[in-house]
Amino acid sequence: MPRPRIEVTRLGKAYGPVAALTDVSLTAAPGAVLGVLGHNGAGKTTLIDILATRALPTSGTARVCGYDVTRSGHQVRRHIGLTSQYACVDEAVSGRANLVLLARLLGATRKQARDRADELLTAFGLTDAADRKAGTYSGGMRRRLDLAASLVGRPDVLFLDEPSTGLDPVSRAGLWALVAGLVADGTTVVLTTQYLEEADKLADEVVVLAGGHVVAAGTPTALKAGIGQRAAAVRLADERAVRHALGVLAYAGIRATPDPVEPILRVALAEPGHVTAVVRALDAAGPDIVDFTVTEPTLDDVYLALHHASKS
Ligand SMILES: Nc1ncnc2c1ncn2[C@@H]1O[C@H](COP(=O)(O)OP(=O)(O)O)[C@@H](O)[C@H]1O
Ligand SMILES: [Mg+2]
Repeated sequence: MPRPRIEVTRLGKAYGPVAALTDVSLTAAPGAVLGVLGHNGAGKTTLIDILATRALPTSGTARVCGYDVTRSGHQVRRHIGLTSQYACVDEAVSGRANLVLLARLLGATRKQARDRADELLTAFGLTDAADRKAGTYSGGMRRRLDLAASLVGRPDVLFLDEPSTGLDPVSRAGLWALVAGLVADGTTVVLTTQYLEEADKLADEVVVLAGGHVVAAGTPTALKAGIGQRAAAVRLADERAVRHALGVLAYAGIRATPDPVEPILRVALAEPGHVTAVVRALDAAGPDIVDFTVTEPTLDDVYLALHHASKS
């Protein structure tokens, strides 16, 4: 087993009275994608900031590529790339100039810097826009430029703090493909996200953060198996129909959960026969079913289950 690129042991970070991280432990291997999943305020950015040596831990240890983030920050910074939630490219100059400048700052010759910029502009589909000011880029293009900027130095570890936030679905899919490509080259990626689908799709291992604590960890498959249930989503005409259907199902001994926004009822399907039971009960006495879909468990269900467990 190669040494993990990321080794975090009982990490804690307090901002005055606020415990942003408590007792967080995790690892990530070379060429692995670690997904850090959690809602706003869970501690994701704090974790990335510590690993990227932008903040110091209050307790515990964190190592990146074998270097301690507190004692060997300079070494750590030589091995990492960072794309922050709030991008920091210079809007007043072109995409190409941004990349060339970064490469020069990292010690490349003028020629090396130009070549690296070209290579990244091509990889990220920015060739046509290369000589336009970064300030004129669309959101998706800006993200790609940001990502390109973080890769100028060919990092062993790439941190992506909510890279999909604000991206349209097409750019998001493009980003996912790029991450897959980096991993194939052996880069370790630590990716924070609020999108469960994203963690599910990209991550080899997922750590779920809530209130600065690791509340679950494992492969997406293992986490999903922990919930292990298919569910039926029954769409009805309106809220009145939802209330009616809830009553009908309750009478049949079937528990259903209404969606908070849409006229949809969700029913956990513990056994295959339950699909028939739900349809039969509604068909006999219930309102018309507008749509009926059966879904496999997702990380969303894992998160909801954890969320409910932590509340009760
Ligand atoms: N510089 C700071 N000063 C004080 N509190 C902070 C600071 N940065 C983060 N926090 C607090 O730490 C917690 C975790 O924040 P953060 O790591 O930004 O979460 P996330 O990135 O998951 O949204 C939040 O309660 C946040 O308010
Ligand atoms: Mg954040």
